[in-house]
Amino acid sequence: MAHSLLKGKKGIIFGALDERSIAWKTALRCYDEGAEIILSNAPIALRMGKIKELAALCGDCPVIGADATSNEDLEKLLNEAMAHFGGKVDFMLHSIGMSPNVRKNIPYTETSYENFHKTIDISALSLHRLLQCSMKLDAINEWGSVVALSYIAAQRSFPGYNDMADTKALLESIARSFGYYYGFAKKVRVNTISQSPTVTTAGSGVGGFDAFLTYAEKMSPLGNASADDCANYTTLLFSDMTRMVTMQNLFHDGGFSFTGVSVPIIEEMEKAAQQ
Ligand SMILES: NC(=O)c1ccc[n+]([C@@H]2O[C@H](COP(=O)([O-])OP(=O)(O)OC[C@H]3O[C@@H](n4cnc5c(N)ncnc54)[C@H](O)[C@@H]3O)[C@@H](O)[C@H]2O)c1
Repeated sequence: MAHSLLKGKKGIIFGALDERSIAWKTALRCYDEGAEIILSNAPIALRMGKIKELAALCGDCPVIGADATSNEDLEKLLNEAMAHFGGKVDFMLHSIGMSPNVRKNIPYTETSYENFHKTIDISALSLHRLLQCSMKLDAINEWGSVVALSYIAAQRSFPGYNDMADTKALLESIARSFGYYYGFAKKVRVNTISQSPTVTTAGSGVGGFDAFLTYAEKMSPLGNASADDCANYTTLLFSDMTRMVTMQNLFHDGGFSFTGVSVPIIEEMEKAAQQ
């Protein structure tokens, strides 16, 4: 059910690759709540992905390619967005992540530093670039909201998450640090949402993902948060209902982050011990 939470607001959604993407669901939700949006993704993803289908579902909104590791691309996108909207934007979703080490199954302890740099550049520094370009061009309205997506491997170790763990820690730190400066300068808020494991292209690339998904489901009092749930939460963070929330890493994981162990997991262990 829509509540017109984003009526009159304008935003940019980065990272919708296909209908499983968290950004895809969020774009639909924001549009549903009355926002005008622009979709963006890396030029290669635009060629391979289905983003035009999503644009059609979001009022034939513009799709503008931008490699998130290129300031030139980001500045061009922001200028085109402001020209299209006839003013500044109110919200942005950074839903961007990729690790060549994860893709190529290179273990954390044997990392390729060249790949590691790429992971950090694509998945964390891109948020800094986006915020820096936005500040330089004064592209975000006062009380605007920027959200990036993180994962609990930033705080606790999860084998298989590889260099993305360190990168998410940096992403959360950038949100905190830039949130400080952007808050004082323009009252712009910056937060990260730490989402449950979710079946998407990026998520499924992590080693042992299916087993881990089941484990997280059994550990979380509310179960795993779906991509649709994440879209709802993100939409709320873009709305005026959360005006005073900034510099936070917000767990959106059905309680996983604060559960030590659960009865369903103990029962699994007991069952295994009896076999
Ligand atoms: N799926 C999960 O389990 C999970 C859990 C927590 C957080 N996250 C985070 O959510 C975000 C979105 O991922 P998703 O799960 O929806 O997967 P996804 O694969 O659908 O989205 C990742 C997106 O990043 C884009 N991207 C990669 N390199 C880029 C570049 N250089 N420039 C611009 N865009 C680029 C891809 O094209 C893709 O659209 C990521 O930051 C991911 O780490 C995912």
